[in-house]
Formats: sequence, structure tokens, C-alpha cells
Amino acid sequence: MLFESMQTLPADAILGLIAEYKNDSRADKIDLGVGVYRNADGLTPVLDVVKTAEQRLVDTQDSKAYLGTAGSQSFNAAMQTLTFAGSADDARVTTLQAPGGSGSLRVAAGLLLRARKKPTVWVSEPTWNNHVPLLGGAGLELKPYPYYDTDRHVIDADAMLEALRSVPKGDIVLLHACCHNPSGLDPTEQQWRAISDVIIERELVPFIDMAYQGFSADLDTDAFVVRHLADKVAEMIVTNSCSKNFGLYRDRVGSLSIMAADSKARAVVASQASNVVRTIYSVPPDHGAAIVEMILNDASLTSKWQVELAQMRDRLREVRVLLHDALKNKASSRDFSHLTRATGMFCFLGINAEQIDTLKADYGIYMIGSSRINVAGVTTDNVEYLAESITAVL
Ligand SMILES: Cc1ncc(COP(=O)(O)O)c(C=O)c1O
Repeated sequence: MLFESMQTLPADAILGLIAEYKNDSRADKIDLGVGVYRNADGLTPVLDVVKTAEQRLVDTQDSKAYLGTAGSQSFNAAMQTLTFAGSADDARVTTLQAPGGSGSLRVAAGLLLRARKKPTVWVSEPTWNNHVPLLGGAGLELKPYPYYDTDRHVIDADAMLEALRSVPKGDIVLLHACCHNPSGLDPTEQQWRAISDVIIERELVPFIDMAYQGFSADLDTDAFVVRHLADKVAEMIVTNSCSKNFGLYRDRVGSLSIMAADSKARAVVASQASNVVRTIYSVPPDHGAAIVEMILNDASLTSKWQVELAQMRDRLREVRVLLHDALKNKASSRDFSHLTRATGMFCFLGINAEQIDTLKADYGIYMIGSSRINVAGVTTDNVEYLAESITAVL
């Protein structure tokens, strides 16, 4: 039998946790695991601006014929502007619509494998828990550079810079543009400048994953490292996800931008990337991208989107403070200030595996094994119970 030799794999850590949480009948259970934004009612609603654009799309769309491997040119142009805001030479950049940030990472991996025999990509330690399976599974060699100091809950910028200084010339360095997943801690502008200097000096290729643009400070500040590097390096890769900032998770919307040395190299790269797409999923899904395209190409919809984006960002900031203050009241000897220094949805709580298990078993509080929490699961209603429970297991 063909499939006889195969074994059932252990459940994916996050998907397994979601299932466990769903089956938990306790009324006061709290989910800090799943990686989606939630509002004060614990919901992940469709943005109003998305509803408006979607309705307009339904009313006006007259064909669903294929658009080609790179998707919609108008979407791509809008995403390129959102990403670079004129900081890169358009003649050197090609942008492709892709199925979410993950799809765009996968196409980037395919392209790197065509560009080099054994491409090595350096990733932060730790990094998003799907970076290694996704990029490694595609065939790239991944190596870690130090990033997060688990004891002090800060970025170990000195160790990171030192490590990058000894990366072989020409290697690829994966950076999180903002809202680093899982730590929530990003380099300051000054640290980004120092990191960029090493990248330029060592002729490294920046590969920037921007999955949370607008979730940290604002759309422009969050793209600082992309735009700072854009006119200083010869080549660069940027992957965007519209899952979080447009709330389009399941519609699978993202883009891949590649900056080549010149317009001639750009044409080569564009044709190779298109061919990579053809060999994986042929053409990207359109519906969500058409919504984003409509929002970004209409000034009134764009400003409505920015208001809703700011509401999500502000709530994340507020619940960080809320949880921090509640913990401070209850566990005053322990410093949780990194919760408020981090931005976006994630940060490490900084507790051990046994404490994580007890929180789940005895209190119905769910988080992944590294103690990474999604602060979007915190509400004014559950924060006291949450802080009390965490304090009890410390
Ligand atoms: C750092 C990072 N990159 C990429 C992604 C992929 O996002 P998408 O759902 O758009 O594939 C995520 C999602 O959690 C992420 O955290």
C-alpha cells in the first residue's frame, strides 16, 4: 500500500492548543496562544472598511478569469508603495501578489534556491515558529543569530551585531521589520542603523519579513528598516502579510518584493519568481487582494482603514499596560516591564514549562510552551483572574 509506511504526526503546537482550548468547558478559560488579533469582546471581526470594499467588489467585479502568476498589477503597485514609500528605485523592484506572508516566504525561498546552490539564511534566535519549517522545508539552510536575552527580557544587540559581523559575505539575513514574533521587541532606530551598517559592510542580503506593518507605532515607522536599507544595498527581499493589518487571515493576502541590482536584473528576477509561482500554486488567490487593492487605491477607504488599524494597535498597547499593572499589584517583586516595552501581539511571559502546564491544567489559561503570549487575549474582564493565576504559579 502506498501510504502504509507513513506515521501520524504529532499535532502542530498551536493547532493542538487551539483544539484543547475549544474542548475546555471552563467558563473562565483564557486563550493566549492563537496568533490572531481579538477585540475587547474576544472576537476577531471583519474590519468595517473590509466589509465596505468587499460589498463594492461584489457589486462591480465582472470577471474571475486568471490574472497571472504575479496577480494584480494594481495591488502590487499599491503594496510596493505601502512598503517602500518611494525609498527604493522602482526600476529595481518587482512585487508579486502572494497567498499571505507564508506564500510570499515560500516563493522567496524558491527564488533563493535558484539563485544560489546552497543558500544560507540567518534567522533570529528565537524566530516565528514557522520560519524554520517553512524556509528549511523548502530547502534553505538556516542558521541562528542571537536576538533575545531570555533573562533580562531585552534584545541582545551587541551579541546580534557581533554574530552578524562574522556571517560569511553574501549570506542572507532574515529580519522582522516590526513586532518581532515571538518576543515583541524590535531594535530601536539607532540599533537598526547599526545592524544596517553591518549588513552593508558584510554585503549581506536583507530578507525582511513584515507581517505586522501598522501594529507597532504606525505604517511608516514600522517600515523603518526596509526604507533605511532600500537605497543602501544592492539586493533585498521583503515579504508582506495583510493577514493582521487588514484582518484578512483566511483570505490569504500578501506580497513579495524583490529589489535587484538594476532594471535588467529586476526583469530576470521577475521572470524567475513568476516561474517559481507557476511551479507551486500557479496563480495567487484574488478575493482578499482585490479588497486590499480597493482600500489602498481609494483615499477615503485608506483613511478608514488607518483608523481601524490604529484602534487595533491602541488596544494592544492598552492591554499590555493593563496586564502589567495587574501583575505588578499582585506579584510586586517580579519585573514584568518587558510586557509594556514589547509591541504588537506577542511577548514572552517568562515562566517555565511546569508553570505553563499548571496554568492550563488548574486555571484554563492557554499559551504555547515557550511562554509566548498573545496579549490580544487579555480583556478588562479577565485581567484580574489572569494576573491572580499567573501570580499563583510563580
Ligand atoms: C513573522 C511572521 N511572518 C509571517 C507570518 C505569516 O502570515 P500569513 O498568515 O499571512 O501567512 C506570520 C504569521 O503569524 C508571522 O508572525
